[in-house]
Amino acid sequence: MKIAMIGGGYVGLVSGACFAAFGTEVAVVESDPSRLQALRQGRIPIYEPGLTELVAEGVAKGHLSFGDDLRAAVTGADAVFIAVGTPTRRGDGHADLSYVYAAAEQVAKCLSGYTVIVTKSTVPVGTGRRIASIIQHVTPGADVDVASNPEFLREGSAIRDFMQPDRVVIGCTSPRARSVLGQLYSPLASRPDLVLYTGIETAELIKYAANSFLAMKVTFINEMADLCEKVGANVKEVAHAIGLDARIGPRFLQPGPGFGGSCFPKDTLALVRIAQEAGAPSRLVEAVVAVNDARKASMSARVIAACGGNVRGQTIAILGLTFKPDTDDMRDSPSIPIVARLVEDGATVRVFDPQGMEPARPLLPNGTVFAPTSEAALDGADALVLVTEWDMFRSIQPDALQTMMRGKVVVDLRNVFDPATMLAHGFAYHGIGVTAR
Ligand code: UGA
Repeated sequence: MKIAMIGGGYVGLVSGACFAAFGTEVAVVESDPSRLQALRQGRIPIYEPGLTELVAEGVAKGHLSFGDDLRAAVTGADAVFIAVGTPTRRGDGHADLSYVYAAAEQVAKCLSGYTVIVTKSTVPVGTGRRIASIIQHVTPGADVDVASNPEFLREGSAIRDFMQPDRVVIGCTSPRARSVLGQLYSPLASRPDLVLYTGIETAELIKYAANSFLAMKVTFINEMADLCEKVGANVKEVAHAIGLDARIGPRFLQPGPGFGGSCFPKDTLALVRIAQEAGAPSRLVEAVVAVNDARKASMSARVIAACGGNVRGQTIAILGLTFKPDTDDMRDSPSIPIVARLVEDGATVRVFDPQGMEPARPLLPNGTVFAPTSEAALDGADALVLVTEWDMFRSIQPDALQTMMRGKVVVDLRNVFDPATMLAHGFAYHGIGVTAR
């Protein structure tokens, strides 16, 4: 089979490389010249474990190619995937669909023979129908079906998520399109119920509903963590106990500084707008957005309180900058407002992240000290603030901290360290929803 992937961003690259690994011929179309050049030279512009190798393998086998010639990619393709960005539109929280519609128009001009046009980008309900009408407007009578095939992969484990999905959702009613897409995913069809066929609007909504539900779960446990701190309970035990109930499940119950990244913040906001416009507002998701925004903004106050109420003149080591481990993605990361406030309040802020240093530079204020290692960040620091739970930080030993740091304050926004051990080593330990006794 042959497919075109419009957009060599995160979703396009990962899905393109994974389809190529199945033996599908994949032509990725990337319009940004510097990104395209990097891809052609085997340089992957994002950090995602295993992706560089998978791309190299696909290219070496002749299954994966990168180019800017949309016509060449679309000609003869069984399916064309639109995987361009859908950022939050400035001002109103809606997803900005201009790139999606522009891609649809361009594709419409290049069609030759029956083609399935598939949205892989996260798009609001109704976008598939709009794409179908754009195509018929540009090329009346075009022999196409439009489908929605949302992606559920997580940054940091994207390849595994693609290769071992919980489900594949294909939204379209045409049997012909279902057959093309079913065939594309057939190498994954270990279970007969893996692929769910739905209507196009349903598939579009499933994506927003899934992300909003997960964001709600995280927000819920964050609120429980705050409550635990007030009443002297332990959120880790609460999360473990409620997670054992199969109806709740154990995942996405890690409290933290609030969710970030390129998906949850954007998709919850978009769902709020979609629901408002449809006349079925989601008060729950509205609350999730508001509670999470407030949480991220309040994390610096938590650090300042732990440091005695005033950080002027103090040296604070920040470990972890990215919104989660195993990515270099800084989008909407909780570290950004924390560092900004601490620098503003007169602290010397030394930051270290294994992958996020370069993407973080333009986002953090002047005066932020970018330390080459975690040790350099910690050397002589008054306080340690752990923001992202990279594996390498888990192995930091309290006696090593004692030697490196000047002060005794540890603010662990991911509950990575053991409170009792920290306390035993004389640290003033501040976790999330746990009280060190
Ligand atoms: C999320 C979804 O999990 C994917 O299924 C989806 O495909 C993706 O968005 C997308 O729409 O493209 P991702 O943004 O990569 O994936 O990251 P997650 O692992 O979901 O984490 C999101 C945020 O929630 C992070 O800030 C993370 O630190 C936070 N989180 C997650 C917690 O605070 N606690 C948890 O227990 C889990």
